[in-house]
Amino acid sequence: MGGKRMKIAIDGPAGAGKSTVARRLARELNFTYVDTGAMYRALTLKVLQQGIDLNDSSLLQQMAETTDIHFETQSDGQVIISDGVDVTSLIRSPRVGEAVSIVSAHPGVRKVMVKLQQAMARSCSVVMDGRDIGEYVIPDADYKFFLTASIEERAQRRVREMEMRGYRADLDAVREEIIKRDQIDSQRPVGALRILPDHIMLDTSKMTEDEVLHTIKMKIRGA
Ligand code: DC
Repeated sequence: MGGKRMKIAIDGPAGAGKSTVARRLARELNFTYVDTGAMYRALTLKVLQQGIDLNDSSLLQQMAETTDIHFETQSDGQVIISDGVDVTSLIRSPRVGEAVSIVSAHPGVRKVMVKLQQAMARSCSVVMDGRDIGEYVIPDADYKFFLTASIEERAQRRVREMEMRGYRADLDAVREEIIKRDQIDSQRPVGALRILPDHIMLDTSKMTEDEVLHTIKMKIRGA
């Protein structure tokens, strides 16, 4: 690619299939995968561990500024490190899942995270997934994709994912949580989930992961 850094943004709601596809796409292109949701989750984990009030904006921003959150690639894949500790599994707990919408809605927290994410996008070619990537983090992305799926499909995927990680999950409860989370994520004042004119839309409800990946690769190649 002649030294030019490529940036690919993948936005969409929880359970649309972003992370699996983004991870696989990054591996195939030899780009760095940046799971921005994992960054908000890592901060949320620390906030919960320290028993901090989820509504204390200035303290949360201060924590975001002073927490060292970064990704490392290990032989079995990518892990997320928070203040020197591998929190890859811990950040997927239902407790973190519930609190992360509140923590990530604080504009001060987002400012810090967006800056970190932009620094990553400057240092290497990235596939970055999240909610506000195309709009705020890398508005100059080479490609912007917006993945969606029906609520029912997203809830079923979330349940499967949680069970695979060893958590028990109730479909009705997960569906409710997704609806609630969508509302919070799309209504917050800064960094809301929004479809942009330059987003390439993909409804993944009836697609396999392979099909989604293939479709994205075709778009990138201009086919
Ligand atoms: O993708 P995920 O479920 O791991 O994201 C966790 C939470 O973080 C979700 O509530 C939305 C929020 N998030 C965000 O506000 N901005 C991003 N770029 C990525 C995630």
